[in-house]
Amino acid sequence: MESNTRITMKDVSFTYEEASSPALSGVSAEIRPGEFVAVLGHNGSGKSTMAKLFNALHIPTEGNVVVCGYDTRSQDLVWEIRRRAGMIFQNPDNQIVATVVREDVAFGLENLGVPTEEMIPRIESALSAVRMNKYADTSPHMLSGGQKQRVAIAGILAMEPSIIIADEATAMLDPSGRKEVLDTIHMLNRNKGITVVWITHFMEEAALADRVLVVSEGSIRLEGTPAEVFDRVEEMREMHLDVPHMAALANELRATGVPLKKGILTVEDMVEEVNRILCPSKSKT
Ligand SMILES: Nc1ncnc2c1ncn2[C@@H]1O[C@H](COP(=O)(O)OP(=O)(O)OP(=O)(O)O)[C@@H](O)[C@H]1O
Ligand SMILES: [Mg+2]
Repeated sequence: MESNTRITMKDVSFTYEEASSPALSGVSAEIRPGEFVAVLGHNGSGKSTMAKLFNALHIPTEGNVVVCGYDTRSQDLVWEIRRRAGMIFQNPDNQIVATVVREDVAFGLENLGVPTEEMIPRIESALSAVRMNKYADTSPHMLSGGQKQRVAIAGILAMEPSIIIADEATAMLDPSGRKEVLDTIHMLNRNKGITVVWITHFMEEAALADRVLVVSEGSIRLEGTPAEVFDRVEEMREMHLDVPHMAALANELRATGVPLKKGILTVEDMVEEVNRILCPSKSKT
């Protein structure tokens, strides 16, 4: 694992051809090594544009994006960047290219020109990491949506990336598929130190991140820990965004005078805090 697993955006603007206004403008931010960063924003706010800038699928109109030390403007480094910063997209079906799981995972390695004898252990290890090794010889079409996304993740893992960028990777999945994919990504972040950029519409998913960036109309409008960001209920609503249910309830209760502490995101947080208020002697400090 390289130590320079960082993405830096400096004064980045991006305008699509023929668009009248920029999709992103004047964005500066950093994704640090080993972080799990969630990106939130209303439809059309610029999240996917940002993801594509991270992967050199788009080159900034102004400013610079530097990924693992490489400026995405350097055309000859595009494959170096894509190998280090792998992307997962929303639709699992669009990401499957082969008729057997093992071959699907091999695809990216073939493109990188990895020798066959080296490919085999890398494929095995990537499929094990997402717990899909049992399905190596299965047709991807037999798999559930969550399993297909895990195969897509294995395809990226086989390339030994430093960063995974997921653009609404759970949006098309049922709740159990969502959980299996999110758990897989958290495990890779924790155990392999892979930096994660997790774009999502699900506030409960963002609540589990180390840090949240909130994009609105092409700019980063809020940034902080989930607790910091989700306490700003009114600002989030102005950007047409919700907050986790317990953060919203805590906000309403505070407005009626209940002295709840800040940063309540989960049912467990709420139970602990209500206990603290009702029976201060019994609660944990
Ligand atoms: N290929 C394109 N050509 C022109 N404009 C585009 C193109 N792709 C996106 N846009 C515009 O750029 C802006 C940002 O789009 P982007 O897809 O980054 O938003 P998003 O936050 O990912 O939205 P969503 O939540 O719907 O996925 C929007 O105004 C969108 O209409
Ligand atoms: Mg998008």
